[in-house]
Amino acid sequence: MDHFALNDGELFAENVPLAAIAREVGTPVYVYSRATLSRHARVFREALAGLPSVHIAFAVKSNPNLAVLRLLASEGYGADVVSEGEMNRALAAGIPAADIVFSGVGKTRRELTAAVKAGIGQFNLESEEEGMELAEIAASLGQRAPCALRVNPDVDARTHAKISTGKADNKFGVAYDRAAAIYARLSALPGLDMKGLAVHIGSQISDLEPSRLAFLKMGELMEAIRSEGHSVTHMDLGGGLGVPYKASDSLPTPQDYGAMVASVAKDWGVTLMFEPGRVITGNSGVLVTEVVRVKEGVVNPFVVVDAAMNDLARPAMYDAWHDFAAVKPNGRTMTANIVGPICESSDTFAMGREIDEVAAGDLAIFRTAGAYGATMANTYNSRALVPEVMVDGSKWAVVAARIEPATILAAEAVPEWLA
Ligand code: LLP
Repeated sequence: MDHFALNDGELFAENVPLAAIAREVGTPVYVYSRATLSRHARVFREALAGLPSVHIAFAVKSNPNLAVLRLLASEGYGADVVSEGEMNRALAAGIPAADIVFSGVGKTRRELTAAVKAGIGQFNLESEEEGMELAEIAASLGQRAPCALRVNPDVDARTHAKISTGKADNKFGVAYDRAAAIYARLSALPGLDMKGLAVHIGSQISDLEPSRLAFLKMGELMEAIRSEGHSVTHMDLGGGLGVPYKASDSLPTPQDYGAMVASVAKDWGVTLMFEPGRVITGNSGVLVTEVVRVKEGVVNPFVVVDAAMNDLARPAMYDAWHDFAAVKPNGRTMTANIVGPICESSDTFAMGREIDEVAAGDLAIFRTAGAYGATMANTYNSRALVPEVMVDGSKWAVVAARIEPATILAAEAVPEWLA
């Protein structure tokens, strides 16, 4: 459920007409709905309410906008970060360091040091090598770094290959069969406080069975580690729950997910940790675009919009589907290819799709763009970095300004010896 709906024949975000935002801010522009974000945050939390001890760390990578983080902080969410930049955003948004989990396969020495100094609540170690380096850094600062060991359960999440992370040949975590021995060795290091295990098998997960199998394996591993005399007080079950991108998509709900987790893990005697991203932010945002022109094609017309793959990369990267809708639909439809202006064919949002009829100058939206949208934007073809707006009832504000190509140009220089 979201708050982007037709009101008197025109699309609104909550009580604000999208056309009003487009007029003032220009297009393309991402628009987020505060009510939708809060609702998703609460629904996810309530779905886990039956579990004894829960910590939810929002996956910042899905939408790192400062206002989004502040809102989620006020909903009691911690943060799952994967870089010093994300950590600093989470801290700037007022998320306590103790509620931050630091994930990622390539944390640098500089990042590990900064995170130890900041007092991060949990490092999810992706390798024994990383654990040894962190132990040395923490010890040299007179600290013990709280850690979980990320394990690769070798389970196929049955999602797009580019966003699957829990197969043995993915780069993430330590091999399942070696995990207990690595946990034991890391537990012996004075610089580390080994608290538990972590797992994350992929994103846009539409079938709970692979997660259930992975969690069962993690439970067995936890028992094996405990039976060797080590303590396991935390189990981080990652993120990954998918969202509907099409009206016809049928996905497990947060309630289904919570029930599945409870059936596997409610008696583990640990704090269960979660790292949801897309399920919170996905349907909370749309990308508003203007039709530049409609160009005749051989099979179908091309609807050329002013948003491109640099603004919303998912269709080009993962063949992802984002619903397209006219801001002021006229009731007719057309079959068209929707493309951006960038000079490569991957800058295509849809081929041969039946859509609301649009013409040059019309506004339209791509739905479900709140997760992995603005955050993956870039400035390819010397385009602006896309701005972001948040709506709250009848109020709205720019929460990330458009970064003009001139600003980026100003950071470049021609060396004297080329002049
Ligand atoms: N935790 C870890 C360790 C992760 O790697 C991820 C996502 C998450 C949590 C959050 O997953 P979510 O709940 O959002 O599915 N750019 C891709 C998605 C990449 C996901 C990467 N990791 C896309 O646009 O589909």
